[in-house]
Amino acid sequence: MLKIILLLLPGVVSAEWNVNYPPPICAARGSDATIGCNFTYPQGQQVQKLLWCSMTSNHDKCYNKPYVYDSEANNNQSNFQYIGDKTSDCSLLISNINQTHSGDYKFRFITSEHSWTGNPGVNILVHDLRVSMSRSRENGSTIVGDSLNLTCTLKCGDLAEAQWFKNGDLIQQSDPVLTFSRVTAQDSGNYSCSLRNFKTTVSEEFTIYIEDVAGSPAVLIIVVSFFSLVFIAAAVMLISRKKVSKSMEEREEAQDSLYSTLQKTADAVYSTITN
Ligand SMILES: *[C@@H]1O[C@H](CO)[C@@H](O)[C@H](O)[C@H]1NC(C)=O
Ligand SMILES: *[C@@H]1O[C@H](CO)[C@@H](O)[C@H](O)[C@H]1NC(C)=O
Ligand SMILES: *[C@@H]1O[C@H](CO)[C@@H](O)[C@H](O)[C@H]1NC(C)=O
Ligand SMILES: *[C@@H]1O[C@H](CO)[C@@H](O)[C@H](O)[C@H]1NC(C)=O
Ligand SMILES: *[C@@H]1O[C@H](CO)[C@@H](O)[C@H](O)[C@H]1NC(C)=O
Ligand SMILES: *[C@@H]1O[C@H](CO)[C@@H](O)[C@H](O)[C@H]1NC(C)=O
Repeated sequence: MLKIILLLLPGVVSAEWNVNYPPPICAARGSDATIGCNFTYPQGQQVQKLLWCSMTSNHDKCYNKPYVYDSEANNNQSNFQYIGDKTSDCSLLISNINQTHSGDYKFRFITSEHSWTGNPGVNILVHDLRVSMSRSRENGSTIVGDSLNLTCTLKCGDLAEAQWFKNGDLIQQSDPVLTFSRVTAQDSGNYSCSLRNFKTTVSEEFTIYIEDVAGSPAVLIIVVSFFSLVFIAAAVMLISRKKVSKSMEEREEAQDSLYSTLQKTADAVYSTITN
């Protein structure tokens, strides 16, 4: 009866025992994850102890140790920092997070009269950043002139921004997609991405090799074969002309001219290839 009356008088009713957790958190390995959290309890009580536990190492309502944070202990795990207060904010900061920190966490607090553990807890997922590629030519090698995109991805969530490195040097700082509308041989290299201003989250390197078709062996062979054909044709023409000519002098002349033509053509081929 008394309870019903109290419920009908908002403002008079004191807060219930409760802990509010955020939705599951997706974090990149190497980043800092903040678990925003708040808690309530009946008025007039003093909070004496604040605890955070991991369901990986603890169970149920974390009645006992171990805790990842214990306001009365002096051996808190170095990655876990309580950034809340003793009255309503139970936020926790996990710095330099990695896959071993994935899992469920619960907040527990003890007042002068009672203790409370908030269920169901908060879930944290940690993944490595990765570089993925999409390109205009699906199969085979990437060649000069193709368009391709590199995207910085996190398996458990979307990235608003990222920074890009080529062979370890920062090249771009904002967009999670690196766009190449027409690749050139100079775009070959090892690419990686990280969260902006968070080099500790850097992904594995992704190697792009752009085949320089103009300088490829296949093209060299075609060029050389073409000029060889021109040689042979020129030689055949000169030799047949030589047969027609009667005098030895003319023959020698023709031979000289054949050699010089061959020499000039060879020079031309050489400079075409080297340029
Ligand atoms: C308490 O936490 C919940 C869930 O994170 C949030 O929706 C709410 O706004 C918070 N309340 C306050 C007063 O911070
Ligand atoms: C653990 O946290 C408590 C409360 O913030 C603090 O008094 C204590 O110094 C911390 N211990 C370490 C080793 O950081
Ligand atoms: C994750 O971080 C903890 C604490 O810093 C460290 O002991 C552990 O070796 C790390 N694990 C991996 C897989 O990097
Ligand atoms: C690259 O991204 C741009 C813009 O996001 C898109 O228009 C284009 O189709 C993408 N190209 C490839 C090869 O995926
Ligand atoms: C790419 O390769 C796959 C399987 O190897 C094939 O089914 C597909 O037709 C190829 N696409 C093109 C554009 O050649
Ligand atoms: C890219 O990475 C590969 C393998 O890790 C390495 O052999 C190569 O030298 C790297 N290239 C550059 C330009 O750093």
